[in-house]
Amino acid sequence: MRRIAIMNQKGGVGKTTTSVNLAAGLAKAGKQVCLIDLDPQGHSSLHLGVEAFGQIPTIYQVFTGQKTLAEVRQLANDRLWVAPANIDLAGTELELIDAHDRETVLRSAIEKFSQSADLDYIIFDCPPSLTVLTINALTAASDVFIPLQPHFFALQGLSKLFETTALVKRRLNRALKVSGIVLCLYETGTRLAADITDDLTRFLEQSDPQAPWASAKIFSTRIRRNIKLAEAPSFGQSIFDYAEKSTGAADYAGLVEEILALEQATQQPAASAA
Ligand SMILES: Nc1ncnc2c1ncn2[C@@H]1O[C@H](COP(=O)(O)OP(=O)(O)O)[C@@H](O)[C@H]1O
Ligand SMILES: [Mg+2]
Repeated sequence: MRRIAIMNQKGGVGKTTTSVNLAAGLAKAGKQVCLIDLDPQGHSSLHLGVEAFGQIPTIYQVFTGQKTLAEVRQLANDRLWVAPANIDLAGTELELIDAHDRETVLRSAIEKFSQSADLDYIIFDCPPSLTVLTINALTAASDVFIPLQPHFFALQGLSKLFETTALVKRRLNRALKVSGIVLCLYETGTRLAADITDDLTRFLEQSDPQAPWASAKIFSTRIRRNIKLAEAPSFGQSIFDYAEKSTGAADYAGLVEEILALEQATQQPAASAA
């Protein structure tokens, strides 16, 4: 079971859009997927039309030990589950302040959950911070994907993000790796987008081979700016249900294909070497 944290401490770079449409695309491709909303804004829950108010249990109760993941997840579409969040989740930091296992609560919940649920992918939509919720995602993840909007300040803050993954790898999760960078809100044909991609490629090539990001690749699918992607959340639908023929749907389908191909390559090293 692959566990992908969609992470970047900057807001507005495409984390939620990527989490939701990647999860929906993988489910559409026949995979069993659970999207875990780790942002107290609850955007990915809303995006998939999943309710998270009143008495409805949310991921917050998993952090406080009152519910299991199996009890809070809701079916949003065929093969697509969502563990929703709302503003209550903002209390997690304080709630866990004295807990000795504060960084590993989510990992333990997933370990328990995966004995009963037959899942292929878990996707974590991280909040725009490097606090306890993101640390829990990194501790529970096998892979980190970083959505990046290629503008002048895109690389600023990336080293802090990378340092955090290195720290979590060292202390909490030896298997953690940053496996991909997704260029989002991409403006085709601009010099700046191309320059930033080059800078990033150079940075990755020069990195320490022990670093968790040493084998990170920039996905060749770029997610172009597309108004349909911005409209879909207010209809509670993924891009595949909202605008199947849009460039947004085409781009996320391309990303899903790339990820599935990677999966196959890692599962059949002998076959791909032949
Ligand atoms: N490729 C895209 N084209 C157009 N709008 C997009 C695209 N990706 C994201 N958006 C919009 O940009 C805003 C920020 O994206 P979002 O995924 O919520 O970022 P984050 O989760 O990192 O804060 C949202 O309003 C979203 O609908
Ligand atoms: Mg978000």
